[in-house]
Amino acid sequence: MTARQLLLVNGPNLNLLGTRQPEIYGSTTLAQIEQQVSEAAAEHGLQVRAVQSNHEGVLIDAIHAARADCAGIIINPGAYSHTSVAIADALTGVDLPVVEVHLSNIHRREAFRHHSYVSAVAEAVIAGAGPRGYVFAVAHLAGRLS
Ligand code: DQA
Repeated sequence: MTARQLLLVNGPNLNLLGTRQPEIYGSTTLAQIEQQVSEAAAEHGLQVRAVQSNHEGVLIDAIHAARADCAGIIINPGAYSHTSVAIADALTGVDLPVVEVHLSNIHRREAFRHHSYVSAVAEAVIAGAGPRGYVFAVAHLAGRLS
């Protein structure tokens, strides 16, 4: 049976959304984003498993687990985007379609944010659309899976 579930992964510090630098990341909380993603996915008959962690290994374990029951991954790796070969390798290893999301436009910010290891293994990258970027990611994966 084809998996009808998406894994939504949010990396370090994204648990603080709503109060963390709202001038950059807005005022929407992570719980609200997860709700919006679940609702958007449900419109396509997809379920969502949401994971947030501040620990690289926990994120990698969650990515590995997706192999068993997910059809695609939406990931905002936070600052690990710019540092983690291990997360990029995990995404490659599970061989599922990946959409990378950033709330902010990382290309308009500090130079160290311009490179993401994850972008090289993502099918699509959405940056700067705020929380709506996650909903765009659902639309992309749903279209690809239909
Ligand atoms: C972020 C951008 C990263 O550079 C930063 O470290 C984050 C959030 C974003 O969603 O815009 O934690 O991934």
